[in-house]
Amino acid sequence: VVSILLVILVGYFLGAISFAVIVARSQGIDIFKAGSGNPGATNVKRTLGAKWGNTVFALDALKGFLAAGWPLLAYGGDNRLAVIGLIAAILGHSFSIFLKFRGGKGVATTIGGLLALMWAVLLIGLVIWLIVFYTSKMVALASMLFAVSLPIAAYFIHGSEDPRFYLGIVLAVLIVVRHRSNIVRMLSGKENKF
Ligand code: G3P
Repeated sequence: VVSILLVILVGYFLGAISFAVIVARSQGIDIFKAGSGNPGATNVKRTLGAKWGNTVFALDALKGFLAAGWPLLAYGGDNRLAVIGLIAAILGHSFSIFLKFRGGKGVATTIGGLLALMWAVLLIGLVIWLIVFYTSKMVALASMLFAVSLPIAAYFIHGSEDPRFYLGIVLAVLIVVRHRSNIVRMLSGKENKF
């Protein structure tokens, strides 16, 4: 029980550090008031360019990698704790205690966490992301289909008994729900294209 609580706390507080907010502020920008208003790598890239956007992506991904990776090292490869750590980090990222429970959509943090937990599932998801992005030019559409692919790929690669399959379901739901504003924009043909 102590280890579960520790994994949740470390994951949540790691996730709650918003690198989009920090990096944008360092450049004199309030990311909540720029572009889509989302504190994530995509919106930093849109607002401040590739260098800062990629920096935010790498740091947000690192949060997920650490949140899932340290329990694997500390508790002898127990996937369940790593799954819990990653979910906590994504919730921290999306509902940050430092930002009045606002936050990003969790895609970069998910990618980092999956690198530690199920790299083959991640790889399939990234291929889908690239295909959708380069055909639609919409990051949000690519991100949502990436998310939906996760439980499907996890089911075929790891099976329905594996905690990573349940992680895939949770991630798909969380990420799609966090893209509500993008879905509304897509339906009215107003979603930003890169
Ligand atoms: O990961 C977020 C991305 O899918 C969409 O971001 O800023 O276009 O809403 P944004």
